[in-house]
Amino acid sequence: MVNKVKSQTELSLFPKPKISDCFSVESRIILHQGDSYDFLKTIPSNIAMLIITSPPYNVGKEYETRTSMQAYLESQEPVIDQLVRILNDKGSICWQVGNFVEDSEVFPLDIFYYNIFKKKQLKLRNRIIWHFGHGLHASKRFSGRYETVLWFSKSDDYVFNLDDVRIPAKYPGKTHFKGKNKGKPSGNPLGKNPSDIWELIANEWGSGLWNIPNVKANHPEKTIHPCQFPIELVERCVLALTNENDWILDSYCGVGSALIAGLIHNRKVIGCDKEANYISVAKERIADFLNGTLKKRPLGKPVYVATGREKVAQIPNEWKSQISIDK
Ligand SMILES: C[S@@+](CC[C@H](N)C(=O)[O-])C[C@H]1O[C@@H](n2cnc3c(N)ncnc32)[C@H](O)[C@@H]1O
Repeated sequence: MVNKVKSQTELSLFPKPKISDCFSVESRIILHQGDSYDFLKTIPSNIAMLIITSPPYNVGKEYETRTSMQAYLESQEPVIDQLVRILNDKGSICWQVGNFVEDSEVFPLDIFYYNIFKKKQLKLRNRIIWHFGHGLHASKRFSGRYETVLWFSKSDDYVFNLDDVRIPAKYPGKTHFKGKNKGKPSGNPLGKNPSDIWELIANEWGSGLWNIPNVKANHPEKTIHPCQFPIELVERCVLALTNENDWILDSYCGVGSALIAGLIHNRKVIGCDKEANYISVAKERIADFLNGTLKKRPLGKPVYVATGREKVAQIPNEWKSQISIDK
């Protein structure tokens, strides 16, 4: 990955941008508390190079009132119309969703959203699988371990900076085995394409992940929000799909993870959330970032793999008589 991130010392040398409550072209950080649809109507057309968001899933979280799937999707359509209007012709929308579950039946939300975005003439570039190793344990189906990010572009001429998000190749020493390049390296010196399966630690802090000391130490971003983005998930989209000083918008920004990802890489950011307590945490996190004190998991840091020596990786004594362990 190309490293253009400002160091803590550099950050302290720059005048700190102010957070505005409403859109103005001079601002670099706009953070609004209120309903997204109302707020989006105040944003000019064609300005956002990246709209990245995770909408409410209609699953009865503390910030939403559960309703029928049809009513829920109908309520999202006017918001999506506004987002498409605001999106730059060279821009992208990354729509991150999981499942709606009713009477134990699973409804993958991306299937339903795909049809809405397609109706607005957007073009799907990837359906990214965000895989995480931990979560709730299901008893009547296989446990869910991924959510998706639908990446749409508005046109065929869209920003895509693959070199900025390449990851280390597993076998960088691989060579061409025939032809005029025989014996020469076959990969890319900047690394490989990260593919459409992204393994990042999810925010399933309540699921036991935090019982593993090293993982806890590795993931310092937890706030009061029940399902915030890991900042590194947004960073990859920011780097790949925008350039410096472009506008990034999160219409359901929660505690501001997408805004921070944008600021880290010197983009201008807009966020909106209806919950005052999330907005105040977002403001604190942005202030921490600007002061160089934000706690954050570094982009690209490998997901922790248990060594087997941790207490939580040991078979409990109570189980030892019940299971046979293959040698
Ligand atoms: C899945 S969360 C997004 C979390 C966010 N990605 C983060 O990193 O914190 C969805 C958010 O949508 C907000 N929300 C729900 N309905 C809204 C509305 N009508 N207008 C604005 N925000 C809304 C909720 O308060 C919640 O924070």
